[in-house]
Amino acid sequence: MSSSALKIGLLGLGTVGGGTIAVLSRNADVIARRAGRPIEVVAASARDITKPRAFDLSGIALVEDPIELVGRPDVDVVVELIGGTTPAKDLVLAALENGKHVVTANKALIALHGNEIFEAAQRTQTMVGFEAAVAGGIPVIKAAREALSGNRIEWIAGIINGTCNFILSAMSEPGREFEPVLAEAQALGYAEADPSFDIDGIDAAHKLTILAAIAFGIPLQFESVFVEGIRHISRADVEYAARLGYRIKHLAMARQVADGIELRVHPTLIPTSQLLANVDGVMNAIMINGDAAGPTLYYGAGAGAEPTASAVVADLVDVARAFGSDSENRVPPLAFQADRLTDLPIVSMEALETAYYLRLHVLNQAGVLADVTRVLGAGGISIEAILQQESDPGAAIVPIIILVHPVPEHAMNQALVEIAALSQVHEPIVKIRMESLT
Ligand code: NDP
Ligand code: HSE
Repeated sequence: MSSSALKIGLLGLGTVGGGTIAVLSRNADVIARRAGRPIEVVAASARDITKPRAFDLSGIALVEDPIELVGRPDVDVVVELIGGTTPAKDLVLAALENGKHVVTANKALIALHGNEIFEAAQRTQTMVGFEAAVAGGIPVIKAAREALSGNRIEWIAGIINGTCNFILSAMSEPGREFEPVLAEAQALGYAEADPSFDIDGIDAAHKLTILAAIAFGIPLQFESVFVEGIRHISRADVEYAARLGYRIKHLAMARQVADGIELRVHPTLIPTSQLLANVDGVMNAIMINGDAAGPTLYYGAGAGAEPTASAVVADLVDVARAFGSDSENRVPPLAFQADRLTDLPIVSMEALETAYYLRLHVLNQAGVLADVTRVLGAGGISIEAILQQESDPGAAIVPIIILVHPVPEHAMNQALVEIAALSQVHEPIVKIRMESLT
């Protein structure tokens, strides 16, 4: 074991920065035994370095200007835990140009600028670790990139935003409303600085961009991901889904099909018999289906100070082990050799074929259901189940829930336009995609 420590410059002293300092300090002995040398934070920077912190910063030089930190001669690895892309991107690129290795938990940065960052790392013969960027404490990057490298990966399905899962799980409990539950997720440090990134699906799309690149050997391409959040999901949908044997989850899907790759994040009905349907609270889980391994499932805390720090520290141990090694023989950041990525087409949502949950509000009168089912039948759409909520016999408008068998999305959309035009149907019509995960 080398006695010289791997020296860390830490950008960001918030939730994950604090967790990283705590884990490195508490587990210093086991980490050093695994890494082959101690790992020490020597310098740190934040927006306000005078702010009191709940963790011990003794022995760490506090640097006001983060750009100074990424150039310090006593820093071997820059750990970026600021978040967002400005100034994180410039700081990471500057660190790499200065010959520093980088570890980051920043999925927005990797999803949007990873291609440029990995190119800079290759040119400067430095390493970039980003295990913490996807699913917090779950080592899914390592699993997909290294442990499954003998497989053709067929699909990935994941619950990869803890805040959305926390909110959707709470919606199945009586008396819990959206806004207070979101505030709770923020107070617990799960939500992004701007929580609309969580509830509008952007954070999950950042993570799916990264997983898909690793799984299929395609360039990072956030702009190709179809993104739908959870704002339109009501407690009523959660209850109807449960009565029909499903849970609603915010699911990220990447699947190789004949015409290319599906890349999408949206609320999804999953049968309660599936393990993924039973992942609750802030927990995340990712299923990866490989042609050789079959389905494998990775479950754990997707957010929070120490779970995320666990992944940051694992990347630091990898850097310590590979420090000074020949850069040609390191694990490529996106699993595939940089010159062997393939630009497979991304399949349009119109071409997607899936089953759907529909919630309609219709006039409480004879013949309405017949009109709706006639439109579905004419569009070649087969009904799996219908649920008509018991209601006051005098109610003017009643909800009807319809599950339909898999159909191309363009046919579903066309039928919904025709159903919405029926005078007995009131808008909005809720449409939620379904997945059997088989
Ligand atoms: P926080 O908001 O808790 O912390 C951000 C830190 O960055 C703060 O210390 C802040 O300083 C500092 N900072 C902000 N802007 C600047 C700037 N311009 N220059 C220097 N420092 C700056 O964020 P988190 O710890 O929650 O998240 C950090 C990263 O980890 C993000 O990329 C996030 O997406 C990712 N992540 C977070 C998880 C979580 O559970 N929280 C899980 C997985 C990934 P100050 O304290 O002075 O305000
Ligand atoms: N805001 C993210 C989430 C943090 O809720 O999952 C973890 O990446």
